[in-house]
Amino acid sequence: MTTPIVPNRGFKPNEEAAKGGTVPLRTTKKVSVIIDRYKGEVEQLIPILQDIQAELHYLPKEALFQVSETISVPISQVFSVATFFKAFSLKPRGKHLVNVCLGTACHVRGAIKILEQVERSLEISPGETSSDLKFTLETVNCMGCCALGPVVKVDTEYFGQMKTDKIDSLLASYE
Ligand code: FES
Repeated sequence: MTTPIVPNRGFKPNEEAAKGGTVPLRTTKKVSVIIDRYKGEVEQLIPILQDIQAELHYLPKEALFQVSETISVPISQVFSVATFFKAFSLKPRGKHLVNVCLGTACHVRGAIKILEQVERSLEISPGETSSDLKFTLETVNCMGCCALGPVVKVDTEYFGQMKTDKIDSLLASYE
């Protein structure tokens, strides 16, 4: 069985990444442990990348080269998979993902003010990650629990009827 062939969306691995060496040794070891978990099997490329994403919260380019070399899959194919799936990120992501719902039901209950407060508290805009790599902020259009609006989700936890003055304590409760 071969790994799925997916379109390369124009991403070109850069020379610097090819040299490696900019990623801490412990990261290299973590990636080795993950690859070993799957016995270095070629058809396990996606699960390997999923585990690296879960462990590091993104896919460092150097880790992709490490995967490519270890399981003998062309780097172009590894990058194709890594850039095809939305679940993968090539940019560092925060340990926690904060989603603020801006759907209609949440919007009419003050979701914009909630978002503005989160932006102030984290000093980032949607799509960005805090400098301490603790939080990534995103917005969504509905979380399917409109009656609880305005809703904020942190990782897998939902917080309904959110108020601006609760944001700081909510964020502070995450390590
Ligand atoms: S609009 Fe926010 S949960 Fe549906």
